Amino acid sequence: MPADTTPAQTRPAKAARKRPSAAQPAPEVTIVVPTFNERENIRPLTDLVEAALPGVAWELAFVDDDSPDGTAEEVRALALEDPRVRLIHRVGRRGLAGACIEGILSSISPLVAVMDADLQHDESKLAEMLAAFRADDTLDLVIGSRHAEGGSAGEGFSRLRAWGSEGATRLAKRLLRIEASDPMSGFFMVRRTSFNQVVLELQTQGFKILADMLSASRGKWKVAEVAYEFRARQHGQSKMDTAVALEFLGLLGARMTGGMVPIRFIMFVMVGFTGVFVQLAVVRFMLVFIPDHFAIAQSFGVLVAMTTNFMLNNALTYRDRTLRGGAFWRGLLSFYAVCLVGAVANVGVAESVYRILPLWALASFVGAVVGALWNFVVSALVTWRAR
Ligand code: GDD
Ligand code: MN
Repeated sequence: MPADTTPAQTRPAKAARKRPSAAQPAPEVTIVVPTFNERENIRPLTDLVEAALPGVAWELAFVDDDSPDGTAEEVRALALEDPRVRLIHRVGRRGLAGACIEGILSSISPLVAVMDADLQHDESKLAEMLAAFRADDTLDLVIGSRHAEGGSAGEGFSRLRAWGSEGATRLAKRLLRIEASDPMSGFFMVRRTSFNQVVLELQTQGFKILADMLSASRGKWKVAEVAYEFRARQHGQSKMDTAVALEFLGLLGARMTGGMVPIRFIMFVMVGFTGVFVQLAVVRFMLVFIPDHFAIAQSFGVLVAMTTNFMLNNALTYRDRTLRGGAFWRGLLSFYAVCLVGAVANVGVAESVYRILPLWALASFVGAVVGALWNFVVSALVTWRAR
């Protein structure tokens, strides 16, 4: 989109918001709204928030990951009209959880809400959430819940998605020992000081910041719930997909290690396991045709497995910086090189361990772990280096 035609100039002027002449009062609550391709939703959402919080000093912080549809420009135009609206524009990065974290950290208000841009979350509940905090100094978090008495997810979800969401909720509650009725919700209000206590543990990759936060609070937070009805999306599309579901498994793993092992590493290892099966299948297949050439079959199996691993990691583990075009092929070659060195390290380490302690399974396992770590760390630095 050309930089000189802002959406505000190109669309029919709706009555511009009046910039209050007096200085803005410090906001009591910041509403953080992560956005990716939500241009059509920015103004309607702002109007709804304004109507939902009369007499409240609020601000809206949109966190946009450089959406191709020009969402950031739309927010800029709106912020020129209304100083309670501001923009955090991130480039070269993607990720819902990370966007929320940055938005929350950017706030100076004592309370921060997170809400989707697509009007699926019921903004009228913001007032109830705020009232709960005003009534209780010790409250840490209020969750907008689809599963509390009076809430529902009916309208907003397809059957398949509802089924997946239910399963994920049950998993999160069991594995992460979470008691809240809707840890998968993307709609909540948190006390900023409470958030700051757990922020260092949070995963920036992934979709489910609330589940991560609840788990990191280790049951010490005072949590309230406000029921809401999950509405159908009006404009644009959901960004939830299979990769998001896998990231969620990664989040469970990350939380079970107390936030120490990152989601990315867990996804890298999951992909690594698929590589083992690919390799076995290819070797088996090749041996049908060249039964006397095991070494060739094995080499070919390794090559194919490295290739599928690269493609899966590129599409899933690093889907926030997927390599395309020429970069794809350069990435593939560098991944081969990294894995080759990893294999040498694997064998070398396994051999040294075996010499000290002649237990083949242990030695082989240690070799595999060192090889996997090498592949992960070095491919992160070389193949998928951040910009
Ligand atoms: N900045 C940024 N970066 N924003 C993103 C990204 C990203 O990579 N991906 C998604 N968003 C924004 C969307 O623009 C939207 O405002 C919000 O995050 C939610 O994304 P959706 O794609 O609409 O997700 P959903 O409706 O399927 O699921 C949401 O609602 C559920 C119910 O509360 C999410 O918030 C889920 O986590 C939540 O369970
Ligand atoms: Mn949505």
